[in-house]
Amino acid sequence: MKNVAIIGASGFVGPYLVQEFTQAGYSVFPVDLPEVDILKRETLDAFFTKVKPDFVVNLAAISSVSASWNNPGLTVQVNVNGSLNILDSLVSVGLLSSRILLVGSSEQYAPCDRPILETDPLLATNPYGVSKIAQENFSSLYQKKYGLKIINTRSFNHTGVGQSDQFVIPSFCKQVAEIDKRGVPGKIAVGNLSAYRDISDVRDVVHVYRMLLEEDQTESIFNVGSGKVHRIKDLLDYILSLSSCKIEVIEDSARMRPVENPYLCCNPSRIERYWGGRDLKDTIREMFLYFKEH
Ligand code: GDD
Repeated sequence: MKNVAIIGASGFVGPYLVQEFTQAGYSVFPVDLPEVDILKRETLDAFFTKVKPDFVVNLAAISSVSASWNNPGLTVQVNVNGSLNILDSLVSVGLLSSRILLVGSSEQYAPCDRPILETDPLLATNPYGVSKIAQENFSSLYQKKYGLKIINTRSFNHTGVGQSDQFVIPSFCKQVAEIDKRGVPGKIAVGNLSAYRDISDVRDVVHVYRMLLEEDQTESIFNVGSGKVHRIKDLLDYILSLSSCKIEVIEDSARMRPVENPYLCCNPSRIERYWGGRDLKDTIREMFLYFKEH
């Protein structure tokens, strides 16, 4: 039985990834702060020495674009130094053949008005994207210097029950569900509705992560997304249609980004064979009902 170390496992994606590997028969070791802190090398060394993982996935990160604007320095520290510590730790405890998956982002790409390929140019428009480009650059240095086996994803937006309402789909679902529960007209706050994003179900994404680690790969960088793009305004309209209450939509300047990529769509050709293809509307309905019931 193979051992899988999942670092930063108590966030949104962690429980889904734990379930994905557990159901496939792996021994899963999910860890998070304070026991394993990616900014404290000694906690990583002790963990890796004990578990001797076949696979390592790092989910610990500052993952919000808005949060990264509020604290660019901390974003670099956690997302770049944290990942580097993981790689350095694996080298120092002699686990050179563990397979590692580092989660990157579609926010690494330069704006592009068609489905993006891994070979398209990178040029992040926010500190979060810059940190993920740096993580990937370090990973390629470590692959060359130490022969580490690293999968770098460039993951597009993914959502599901459990995602924080600092992100768009849970934010809209939660606000609308709260009004619907009260059963009286209300208002919701929104940001930029004109952006287009490739948004998928987190369960499709974690399945791809497992397959990328399990099967031998000839590439090391993978777009992870559906290849289908949605206008945020259309998703909002769908969420509003789930309620029978009259709801006023208010633009909130605090929710607007200083710079924003207007269109982000994945060309998923490198991972197509692993893609489950859940319908985003089903996921959104599930999230809306979750907020209504909780
Ligand atoms: N959060 C939020 N809140 N976003 C809004 C809102 C709102 O009220 N209204 C419109 N948006 C727009 C944002 O401007 C953006 O264009 C889009 O909805 C998605 O925003 P988020 O859900 O906050 O996600 P993100 O695209 O910034 O980042 C997510 O996706 C990346 C992959 O593309 C994160 O999950 C990142 O970690 C991930 O790498």
